[in-house]
Amino acid sequence: MSRVAYVNGTYRPHGQAVVHIEDRGFQFADGVYEVWGVFGGRLADFDGHMTRLHRSLNELRIPIPMTREALKQVLNETIRRNRVQNGIVYLQVTRGTAPRDHAFPQDTAPSVVVTAKRVDTAKGEAMAARGAAGVTQPDIRWGRCDIKTVGLLPNVLAKQAARESGAYECLMYDEMGLITEGSSTNAWIVDENGKLRTRDTQANILKGVTRTQLLDIIAEEGVELDERPFSVEEAKKAREVFVTAASTFVMPLVSLDGVRIGDGKPGPVATRLRAAYLEQADRDAV
Ligand code: PDD
Repeated sequence: MSRVAYVNGTYRPHGQAVVHIEDRGFQFADGVYEVWGVFGGRLADFDGHMTRLHRSLNELRIPIPMTREALKQVLNETIRRNRVQNGIVYLQVTRGTAPRDHAFPQDTAPSVVVTAKRVDTAKGEAMAARGAAGVTQPDIRWGRCDIKTVGLLPNVLAKQAARESGAYECLMYDEMGLITEGSSTNAWIVDENGKLRTRDTQANILKGVTRTQLLDIIAEEGVELDERPFSVEEAKKAREVFVTAASTFVMPLVSLDGVRIGDGKPGPVATRLRAAYLEQADRDAV
């Protein structure tokens, strides 16, 4: 089946879905994006991602291109036209097309692109049951990683480093050796004392929507959480390490830079949180 993308008001086959060469997303990475999980053809964590999208746009002073309801319709229509039951939908909004000049153009309409793709859930479940490998690298990103921009080159390099080591994710660390986040995920540990920890979002990281959902689940379950950074060394000595994102839910890492984590198998906390997240995301999808 051929895939269909939404581009600035029309649905087109992927091969014909194009933006202008002077789109500022292409020339300056002057744009933002969101990724929603799709459960049974419906959007998971709709409000959380929509709220963060508006925040990212506001921070960069890119106009909000359409109402929440209109955007929801476009996302759902793209899912429908691509017959995605389980997968992801990707939205990108850039400042639009204008002759190349670093400063903002006047009166330019934002560009909006939406794509949807199926994900092999069995493959993700198998990886979660087995556990994945992680590596670490210095975080070389800019100072506004709270904004979900399409300027992802350091993240691309980090993910590529993981791939070249046969690993799934690369956790990045700051100049103090404290882990910031994964190349496309937030990072968590159950430390050697059994305390669940994830870095606070005052620091230079993305406030993951999956992370926020998990905070609610954790509070409901009465599990104690310490929102405090942890070092690469602490992660290597931890009982569990896992990462979270809309695309991967909760994914246990069973090794880091070749060092075995815990007993080398997914731990009970990650396993339980994954099940709880999947149940909630499916139940609340719209
Ligand atoms: N990435 N941190 C970074 C750097 C990310 O790129 C992402 C998401 C997350 C997790 O955020 P959320 O839980 O809202 O998905 C954290 C998406 C999935 C991506 O780039 O494909």
